[in-house]
Amino acid sequence: MDKMRIRGGIALRGTVEVSGSKNAALPILISTLLTAEACRFERVPDLEDIQTTLKLLGQMGATITPALDQSQVTIRCDAISSREAPYDLVRKMRASVVVLGPLLARFGKAKVSLPGGCAIGARPINFHLAGLERLGAKIELEQGYVVAEAKRLIGANIVFEFPSVGATENVLMAAVLARGESVLENCAREPEIIDLARALKAMGAEIEGEGTEVIRVQGKDVLHGCDYRIMGDRIEAGTYLAAGLATGGTVKVKGLSPTYMDAILAKFEDAGSRVIREADAVQVIAGARPQPTDIKTLPYPGFPTDMQAQFMTAMAVAEGASVITETIFENRFMHVPELIRLGADITVRGNSALIRGRPKLLGAPLMATDLRASASLVLGGLCAEGETIVNRIYHLDRGYECMEKKLASLGAEIERIS
Ligand code: UD1
Repeated sequence: MDKMRIRGGIALRGTVEVSGSKNAALPILISTLLTAEACRFERVPDLEDIQTTLKLLGQMGATITPALDQSQVTIRCDAISSREAPYDLVRKMRASVVVLGPLLARFGKAKVSLPGGCAIGARPINFHLAGLERLGAKIELEQGYVVAEAKRLIGANIVFEFPSVGATENVLMAAVLARGESVLENCAREPEIIDLARALKAMGAEIEGEGTEVIRVQGKDVLHGCDYRIMGDRIEAGTYLAAGLATGGTVKVKGLSPTYMDAILAKFEDAGSRVIREADAVQVIAGARPQPTDIKTLPYPGFPTDMQAQFMTAMAVAEGASVITETIFENRFMHVPELIRLGADITVRGNSALIRGRPKLLGAPLMATDLRASASLVLGGLCAEGETIVNRIYHLDRGYECMEKKLASLGAEIERIS
């Protein structure tokens, strides 16, 4: 199993290009189930989760021409023979449950394994199922699988109990082929939903209001192929900027619009950094040590839970105490005991963590637990003095393309060892 060896204490400096967004690419690739025509995508990141998605589509009968080394994929779902997402793939990647909506909408039938719990919380899919039922699907649970059926989905008014990203995506993909109009309320407003809606529109879907709480969809009988370029990854961008903040450096990320990063960038400013926004890049010039700042994770446009762990590392070396409150997932502080092994002073009470900044951290062997927690440990290693080994980095490969190369290009001493 690969590990990351880091020699920390170097202020990172330079520019990195972000890859295509993982969380936008996953539902967008899955949306190809909605049409029999070929869909071609650019800027698809070469990640474990993308490979899992392509494997799932391949098992269903999709024809896939991956050229992930050139960030391109062409998918054609004209001969889908299976409408099932099996346990071994859904367990590996929960996001695969969003095949439910498109399979139901186009083929009237879908069988998808219930994902079960995961490292960061229970993560049920009740909001997905309630939305699909409102569109007329009959849903049953059989031996750990959701079995959904509908002759033709019918447009409906759906109010989500919570602005869930996955539920909004699943129901949106179902509504685009339903008969008549659907009005989705209390939708997630994440930029990745906007990107999915744009890709669906490129396939001929009629959608209005993406990026707001209310999305209106006029259902179509068929969709066609498309040529679409995936948006840049705002969480990847935020992670490299946070590495700059934690090490007292100057990092620029390019290849994405900073407007989708407002809440994140506001926190860099609160932490005493200068933030320079450009049309498709952003630079953070950090002070020697971050200033403390309190953070509460919220649905977009609030501060993203996917940046919480990385900011905690920066706050661990801040000049004072910060409180970080996690409101989206119930068990998302698994990086805390590992950061404490680097000498961080962190106390967790319920869903809040009190972080008393220390002048320095000291390198240690660490164990990665989930994707963003792993990123926070790498950042910990980058600011700690001496050597840090981060074990079980397969989590990182799910969501960061060439992380060690990108960090090395910023001056970090980091290498992957087998
Ligand atoms: C997506 C992102 C993930 C991010 C999260 C929140 C992808 C592939 N993943 O995950 O990186 O951290 O948004 O921004 O895009 N919930 C329910 N019932 C449901 C659905 C959700 O109770 O039917 C709860 C979840 O357990 C969680 C909260 O709602 O506590 C938010 O989940 P959701 O927005 O759905 O996140 P995901 O789509 O799973």
